[in-house]
Formats: sequence, structure tokens, C-alpha cells
Amino acid sequence: MSQLSFFEKDEVLTKAPVNTVNHTSCQRIEDKFAHLLHEDLQLANLVSYVGNKGIPVLRLYRYKEAFAFSFVEDFISRFGLGEEDYIFDPFCGMGTTLFTASQKGIPSIGVDKLPIATFIAQTLPLFYSLRPGQIRDAFELLKTRVQQAPPAAVALDVAIMKVAFPPDTLLALRKWKTAIDSLESPIKDILLLLFFSVLEPCSYTSKDGQFLRLVREKKIADPEEALENKVNEAERDIQLVRNLKWDQSVRLPSVYPGDTRDLTEITFARQPTAIITSPPYANRYDYTRTYSLELCFHFVRNFAELKDLRFGILRSHIESKVDSHEQPPHPVVKEVVDILRKRGKLLNNPRIPDMLTGYFVDMQKVIREWARVLAPGARVAMVVDNVRFEGELLPVDLVLSEMAEEAGFRVEDILIARYKGNSSQQMGKYGRVPVRESVVVWSKP
Ligand SMILES: C[S@@+](CC[C@H](N)C(=O)[O-])C[C@H]1O[C@@H](n2cnc3c(N)ncnc32)[C@H](O)[C@@H]1O
Repeated sequence: MSQLSFFEKDEVLTKAPVNTVNHTSCQRIEDKFAHLLHEDLQLANLVSYVGNKGIPVLRLYRYKEAFAFSFVEDFISRFGLGEEDYIFDPFCGMGTTLFTASQKGIPSIGVDKLPIATFIAQTLPLFYSLRPGQIRDAFELLKTRVQQAPPAAVALDVAIMKVAFPPDTLLALRKWKTAIDSLESPIKDILLLLFFSVLEPCSYTSKDGQFLRLVREKKIADPEEALENKVNEAERDIQLVRNLKWDQSVRLPSVYPGDTRDLTEITFARQPTAIITSPPYANRYDYTRTYSLELCFHFVRNFAELKDLRFGILRSHIESKVDSHEQPPHPVVKEVVDILRKRGKLLNNPRIPDMLTGYFVDMQKVIREWARVLAPGARVAMVVDNVRFEGELLPVDLVLSEMAEEAGFRVEDILIARYKGNSSQQMGKYGRVPVRESVVVWSKP
């Protein structure tokens, strides 16, 4: 596909009447896809993690950017997928898509760049292989070892690690980490997952904001007590799964740590017949900050490795860098980036135009990879959030859909799951203009 084609089309269309002088491309793309935009507001509760609070096992680790089990169930049913299908989640996160597919007996494969995400996605299905009481027995054994355990090596040169814990708590957590590391898999991985889930309550940090916030006045949990509670929750869930008679012989998904911008190294069993996914949003959010405690305890040895990860994920955060030759790959993105660049130093954060450029260059690569690896007839459902910076709305759902068309997909539907307000700061300045969170539905002819 040629990148020029978007721009050629846009030049022709700029001659059509438009509502505003400055937003020619945005108006054109809204008009073009208007007939495919449909409200489906019952999806609102499914596109967030909240829906997973009632799902045994999946609720043991809070990956707050996840969507819900029932969202995946819903699209498995809309697409009529069955055991003969092969579902791919190229941004698998904690593995909600893979977990749900396994429950339905559908083979699946996932990729994620963040090692804590692939670890959780690989480990959650292992809970099914445990007998009731097994985690508690392992925990009781660890209690006898933990006092003698030397503190595990963790990435102490990362700034947040110096302030996130009281010294006694940090020492206790490091000893627990050593004790857990002495176990054999899968029980070791299971306890590590539970351990990662108590890092936030045992720290002065909170994942509730857009970033990992330091909350000095927070009451901090005791590591042993927090772990014991988590072990009890896990035991309860294992029992629940047995009572629910969920299939214990679930098909284990394949999970790869990798970069979905280049899938050449990924071994697919065959061509996937569906994608159910959600990429990072172009909203400045940095996964390597939100999950920095988990990363520093196990997945990176020092700040340099954490930084490598930060610059290796999709460019959706504010520190993203662009090469001098990289330009906005779509006229709508160019239009918004140009408007924002003209504001120069007046911009709240002058790095936003670079982030948007990098984001869409990356997403264009991603979509082309999907067009390459998917089976003919495959369907795609992807949750995306539109964004608004300094009053400038960017219809991410439509831009990505047009990129998908250029890569050979057919755009079937753009389902509006919910409307989000914007920050109170923006509202005061620009008025309340809701921003769509949508599910784009594409198919490969
Ligand atoms: C919105 S989350 C997906 C959550 C997932 N749907 C779930 O239910 O857990 C987006 C994911 O994209 C991952 N990611 C970021 N850059 C990536 C890349 N280049 N390749 C693969 N995954 C990436 C992030 O680590 C994050 O887990």
C-alpha cells in the first residue's frame, strides 16, 4: 500500500464543502465513516477491567488496562468462533482474550512487549492445574524459610524503588522474593503472581491515576499478611472454578514476549482467524511506569533495562522519540499535529505532536502486519479510544480504520462503546466535548 494514497484522496476531498477552515481532513473522515458509526452502549461496561471483578482467577491480578472476560465472550459469539478457529491477541496484556478463548476450547496465541503482562497471561491458566490446598501448603513452607532468606537482588537504582516502600517492608519483600524463587514451577510462578499483586498495597504507590502516584499518607499492608490474604483468595477461586465445573483441561494459549510491529519471529500454528484486542491508547500513558515495581522486582536488573523497555513499547507515551525522517502517516494526524505544533511553547506538553506521530507510524506497521498474517476471511475487533489535546480531537477509531482499508481490510462497523468526558482542565477551557471509545470491526477479504 502506498502512504501517498491517503494524501491524494485527501487533496481531492478538500474541495468538498467542510464545516471548518482548519479541520478539513477530520471533517472528511467523519463524513466518510458516518454510516458505519453505531452506538452500542451496552459494551460500555465490558471495555474496562471492572467486569472482571467477578471472574475467578482472572481477578487475582489487577491489570487495569484490561478489558472484560464478557467482552471477549461477546465477540467470540458475534464472530461465531468455535474450536476450529485460532484467535490472536497482538497486545495480549494479562491475557483476557486468551483466557476466555481457552475457556471456550478455542486455541489462541498472544504477544505483548511488557514482560509482566506476558508473565501474567502465561501464569493465570496454570491455576487450573492446581489441587485445592496446594498454594496454601507452599505458602506455609515458605513461612518457615523466609526469615533465613537473603534479600533478592532488585533494581534499586530506579528512582521509584527508593521511595515506594518503608525500609522494613522493602527488606521483607525482598526476602519473600528469594523464598518464592526457591520453589519449582508452576507453584513458583503462581506465588510470584500473587506476590506481584501485593506490591501496590505494600507500597506508598497507587495505580489509580494515569501514572503510578506516590501517596504518602497511605496505610501500608504487611507483606506476609497481604500475601496470606492473596493465597486465601486464590484458594477460594480454585475451589470456585471446580464448583463451576469449568473445563480443567483448558487449552493452554501460546504467549510470546514480542513486539507486534514485527511478527516475523512469531510462530503461528496456522493463520489466525480472528483478532480480539486493544492497543495502548494515544493518551500519554506509560505502562513501564505503572508496572515499574513489578518490573524492578523481577523483570529488569537496573534503570538502563527499564529505559530500554520504555523505548521499546509502542509510542503512546510522552517520552516517545521520533526519527527526523518520520512524519505523520495520515492526513488527519498531520492536520492535528500541525495545529498543535503551531502552538509551540503554548502547548501544555510540547512533546505531544511527536508522540502522536510515533503512535500512528507504529500502528500503521501493526495493521500491515495483521493484514499479512491473518487468514482470508478473518475478523478483527479492536477497542480504541479517541483522544483530545488542547481542544483538538483526533478520531483514532476512524484513522486506524482508514489505515486498515489501505492495508486491505474491509471496515464493517465502528461501534461506539461509550463517550468519555475530558479532563476538567480541558473542559474549563474548551467546553465538554465527549470523546468516543469504540470497537472497530474489520474483516480480511
Ligand atoms: C490496552 S493493553 C491490552 C490489555 C488486554 N486487552 C487485557 O485484557 O489484558 C495494551 C497492551 O499493549 C502492550 N504493548 C505496548 N507496546 C507493544 C508492542 N510494541 N507490542 C506488543 N504489545 C505492546 C502493553 O504492554 C499492554 O499490555
